[in-house]
Amino acid sequence: MKEQILRLLKENSDDFLSGEDISDKFGVSRAAIWKHMNTLKEEGYEIESVSRKGYKLIKCPDILTYIEVEEYLHTKYIGRNIQYFETIDSTNIKAKEIAYESEEGTVVISEEQTLGRGRLGRSWVSPKGKGIWMSILLKPKIDPMKVAKITQIGAAAVSLAIQDLGIESSIKWPNDIVINGRKVCGILTEMSCELNMINYVIMGVGINVNLDSKDFQGEVSKVGTSLKIETGEKVNRKQLLGLFLNRFEELFIPFVEEDDFSSILKVCREKSILIGKEVKLIRGSEEKTGKVIGLNDDGELEVDYGNGVVENVLSGEVSVRGLYGYV
Ligand code: BTN
Repeated sequence: MKEQILRLLKENSDDFLSGEDISDKFGVSRAAIWKHMNTLKEEGYEIESVSRKGYKLIKCPDILTYIEVEEYLHTKYIGRNIQYFETIDSTNIKAKEIAYESEEGTVVISEEQTLGRGRLGRSWVSPKGKGIWMSILLKPKIDPMKVAKITQIGAAAVSLAIQDLGIESSIKWPNDIVINGRKVCGILTEMSCELNMINYVIMGVGINVNLDSKDFQGEVSKVGTSLKIETGEKVNRKQLLGLFLNRFEELFIPFVEEDDFSSILKVCREKSILIGKEVKLIRGSEEKTGKVIGLNDDGELEVDYGNGVVENVLSGEVSVRGLYGYV
């Protein structure tokens, strides 16, 4: 009911809507309408109420609920069910909990994470209302060996969505989005599968949208940045989320239905920050230096070690670093 009232207010944001009209429309008392208005105000909606005129929506809060994001969404099923939280330990953990009972494309999103997780056991800074901290639940009928490519779809989609806003970024294979040599987004993909069948995949995406420099403390301050820091302007999180989900579905459907990885590869190659660079590849305690010469047709990193040996590196447990820093 609250959502229906909010939709009505949004559709008529130029006018006042009388309490009587709203209560007639939904067949509930004016007192009930008044209560819902108060709840909406508590959630951050600015609603003007004038006696004998009614209610008018003045301003919506900067929150990532479905009703706030839907105007930017053009997808069939990705993001059509958003499970929204103000605070949570980690959206990836929550997505795993609801994986079996929820439909494919469900998105878990939280304004903040108290236990945000990154790759290789690292933590992920996720302050309230400043980023997009989300996980998409996927149930693709593909070979589990191909799941690493989903991370690359995510990376391509984030970079394209940022580009839709007029901001250029690069992809640091396989899952980081980088601006001016610093990281604005990371992806953590996890899965549950049988030998040759996927139960579910959780793609967790963290986009540093409106974080300030003071949000990055200690080690992360050397590597992390945000769209706001890099552009000097606050970015509309709702729009960016919509753009990302649209871009993701656009690349994901051909991949699962036709095994078409070509457009994804094109974006990952064009936007790659590693191709042509000397890098360190870190696997546990082992470190190797080589030159990245490209991405092969499976999206693996082609590294030339200089002695005629070219290795195709799978994303897995490798960490790639520039010789003198993050890239
Ligand atoms: C990385 O680059 O190390 C991956 C970072 C992934 C962070 C996102 S934020 C939303 C989702 N929930 C988590 O706990 N982690 C991912």
